[in-house]
Amino acid sequence: MYLFYILKASLDCSVLTMAEVDLSPKYPCPRNTPPPSPPPMNRSRVLAISLVSFLLLDPAIAAEEKAGLTCYYHAEKPAKPEFNLDYEGTAYGFSSVEEQKRFTEERAASLYQRIGGKTAVHAAVDLFYEKVLADERVKHFFDDVNMTAQIRKQKEFLSTALGAPTAWTGKDMRAAHQGLDLRDEDFAAIAENLLATLTELKLDRALIDEIMIIVASTKDAVLNR
Ligand code: HEM
Repeated sequence: MYLFYILKASLDCSVLTMAEVDLSPKYPCPRNTPPPSPPPMNRSRVLAISLVSFLLLDPAIAAEEKAGLTCYYHAEKPAKPEFNLDYEGTAYGFSSVEEQKRFTEERAASLYQRIGGKTAVHAAVDLFYEKVLADERVKHFFDDVNMTAQIRKQKEFLSTALGAPTAWTGKDMRAAHQGLDLRDEDFAAIAENLLATLTELKLDRALIDEIMIIVASTKDAVLNR
């Protein structure tokens, strides 16, 4: 299997803590005069006020608990809302500032981000399959394939392989191509279409080379060798 999962090292993650909020009543009281007692409240009113206080006084934590975000690097630990990051419209949680920094650095170094992230990968995969389906050498392989699903899966796979923070949830490359009886020339045709796609999209030559190396690394699995 040739997926390029991000290695998740064991950094320490501490547990989510509630922010301390002083809820004691503040009464303006003249010197030496005891503050007036607040009016007695019934049980349901106390409960209602507690609930509203919790939701209004710390909406970040409430929202976080609803989302159930955990630490990106240590899924068994809850994320701390103050370290959350938004990346391409998705919230990622971290339990320390170091892990948040590590995530940002990993993204910046990734081929995925360097070629332009989701927008670039999606544009490339769309154009790639236009070319594949117009290629007499290989288009018959896709006759009975749901191309909407295939395009979605390829976007997901390539994103992960290039270093996106998202996971590949499909089959491994060996299983995905089992039974297709693919040959060297089929793989070469597919790779050629990808190269033509990336060239047409005017991607930097050095970046194209990096992508083609990753794609080439899937060859033995795709050809079930
Ligand atoms: C160049 C490297 C390749 C990569 C990275 C790749 C990637 C993928 C991925 C991600 C899937 C979806 C797997 C899933 O359903 O979970 C897939 C399926 C498929 N691939 Fe490839 N592929 C490659 C080469 C090829 C070649 C050379 C051919 C044929 C010429 C091919 C034909 C197919 C077909 C027909 C399916 C659909 C299988 C099915 O739904 O039953 N692929 N491929």
